[in-house]
Amino acid sequence: MSDTYLQLDKLTLAYGDTVAVKDLDLTIRKGELVALLGPSGCGKTTTMRSIAGLLNPASGRITLDGNDITRVSANKRNVGLVFQSYALFPHLTVYENVAFGLRLKGVSGQDLDSKVSAGIKSVGLASFAARKPGELSGGQQQRVALARSMVMEPKVLLLDEPLSNLDARLRLEMRAELQRVQKETGVTMIFVTHDQIEALALADRIVVMLDGGIEQIGTPEDIYNKPVSAFVADFVGFENVFALENGKLATPDGLVELAAPAPQIQAQQSPVPMPAKGLAWRPRMVILGSGPFQGTVRGTSFAGNVREYLLDTPLGPIKAEVDAIEPSHAIGTTLAFDLPIATAAPLSRYR
Ligand SMILES: Nc1ncnc2c1ncn2[C@@H]1O[C@H](COP(=O)(O)OP(=O)(O)O)[C@@H](O)[C@H]1O
Ligand SMILES: [Mg+2]
Repeated sequence: MSDTYLQLDKLTLAYGDTVAVKDLDLTIRKGELVALLGPSGCGKTTTMRSIAGLLNPASGRITLDGNDITRVSANKRNVGLVFQSYALFPHLTVYENVAFGLRLKGVSGQDLDSKVSAGIKSVGLASFAARKPGELSGGQQQRVALARSMVMEPKVLLLDEPLSNLDARLRLEMRAELQRVQKETGVTMIFVTHDQIEALALADRIVVMLDGGIEQIGTPEDIYNKPVSAFVADFVGFENVFALENGKLATPDGLVELAAPAPQIQAQQSPVPMPAKGLAWRPRMVILGSGPFQGTVRGTSFAGNVREYLLDTPLGPIKAEVDAIEPSHAIGTTLAFDLPIATAAPLSRYR
């Protein structure tokens, strides 16, 4: 790819004998906002640490802006890193916290002042420059941490779960703030989260990780609507996921014939469509009240716009979601239901 900016090439990362990330390939374009999404322990932080230069790869290569930086020390990479704990200097003012790295680099005088002032202003803290971290809210401290990294004009800014210590309202605010700063400055950003909503809302592209490898890379729309594997499907809310065997649904009761042929998958690498290995339905795609299957309501809960049902069925537990204005069904009621083939997401991998 000609506009490759950051490239991870067969990167393997280990702590002693423990391999945390295996043969990871990832290409990021300049100015992209990429989210690393995945469950705890899948290797997100480890990957970030290697890009920042805090962990030497066991094997593989990292290139940034045309240079091989695999063995370049952290302080010479021009990569910024913001953690979930802000690690601000408590005895220094906001201004001095933001100025710290620039001073180390030898920036001084008018040049320093204009960079620091612009940085503080860009995160909306102009009137807080003289405060100390202890006199700021969590969200404000996180903004200082962001400004402190941004003023260094990093080639890549890495953010490791930067919003996870904030309450729900502040998270939303900071999410918008991050997006704005990124679009304004055009800085290439990699953002780690285990929250799919956050990744979907923020990223240009999402990298879904599992067990030290990449499950899927795609736009938020791709990941949300076209998960490739059972894991990604489940992770983005397709709560009814089935393997397909010989075109039949694999269920606890054995193989179940489908009403229509399962959709084929058009893989990028291959001109020939492949049979799907699995099918997945979101709860709201399940039709309740009619269809070839029968289930008994085991649980129901009201969620504002919608009502959620958990059904015991021969296909295993099925989660359905219907408009809350529909009449409700009591626990113990037996209902017909359908899993329409037309709305199913075909999976190219099931495991
Ligand atoms: N310092 C360490 N020493 C040994 N194992 C580690 C260390 N840090 C992380 N790991 C292991 O590496 C794997 C990936 O961890 P990490 O990258 O922190 O995951 P994530 O950030 O996705 O939650 C996990 O199995 C974790 O236990
Ligand atoms: Mg982590």
